[in-house]
Amino acid sequence: MDRPKIDVRDLWKRFDGQGTSIEVLSGVSFQVHDGEFVCFLGPSGSGKTTLLQIIGGFDAPSRGEVLVDGEVVAGPHPKRIFVFQESGIFPWLQVRQNIGLGLGELPPLERKRIVSHYIEMVGLSGFEAAYPHELSGGMKQRVQVARALAVNPDVLYMDEPFGALDSLTRLKMRAELVRIWERERRTILFVTHDIDEAIQLATTVIVFTPRPTRIQTVIEVPLPRPRDLESPAYLAIKEQICQEMGVPLRI
Ligand SMILES: Nc1ncnc2c1ncn2[C@@H]1O[C@H](COP(=O)(O)OP(=O)(O)OP(=O)(O)O)[C@@H](O)[C@H]1O
Ligand SMILES: [Mg+2]
Repeated sequence: MDRPKIDVRDLWKRFDGQGTSIEVLSGVSFQVHDGEFVCFLGPSGSGKTTLLQIIGGFDAPSRGEVLVDGEVVAGPHPKRIFVFQESGIFPWLQVRQNIGLGLGELPPLERKRIVSHYIEMVGLSGFEAAYPHELSGGMKQRVQVARALAVNPDVLYMDEPFGALDSLTRLKMRAELVRIWERERRTILFVTHDIDEAIQLATTVIVFTPRPTRIQTVIEVPLPRPRDLESPAYLAIKEQICQEMGVPLRI
């Protein structure tokens, strides 16, 4: 078997505060292979952001380790890009500067071409010179997604990146992300609350328990793309996930 791209080994995480101590992760292990699109599903407060931040090198586990390409993660990496749940863009930079931030030493024309391409892709044409305070929450989120895609990332860690978007933009961004993933086969870890979003996007869905979090189940999603949201195979997977999460499928 090939070496996994991401190897999460027995992660534990406890936050100790003044007089409080909270156990968030309790023995989480899984592997992700190169080019997989993995969605994390779990209740609010279960530790999905904490887990992703540890995998991304932004936080350290209390116990356990994460390996990417066979090496222990000790901090963030310029080709492993994180899209934060809350806006991670710089307020003092214009939209085009935020999006071009990771492009480093490229010649100015090439840089301009890439930035324009992604500005158009996320529907921000006309806002190139705007500052973040002039944008809506969803627009700021789109700046983050564009910036992440522009650097041609090796791995994408996305924490509810479309959570603040209206449902139409959400669908559009999902379709765009799938198109990019199909073309470039990056490895993607994607946190969401939304069961449909997970089944539409993922090759594998990992369902987490409430805190202290363990893996409840791992569900493969072998559906062909484009995915038909009304096919019996789609609905069967949805029913299985709803059951696992104790969510009614019909109301
Ligand atoms: N820096 C921190 N210090 C103390 N407690 C924290 C810290 N970060 C997170 N927690 C706690 O850890 C738990 C998990 O938080 P986390 O943000 O990982 O959940 P989540 O699954 O991403 O939730 P949501 O779906 O609402 O985004 C929460 O109870 C939270 O209060
Ligand atoms: Mg979160």
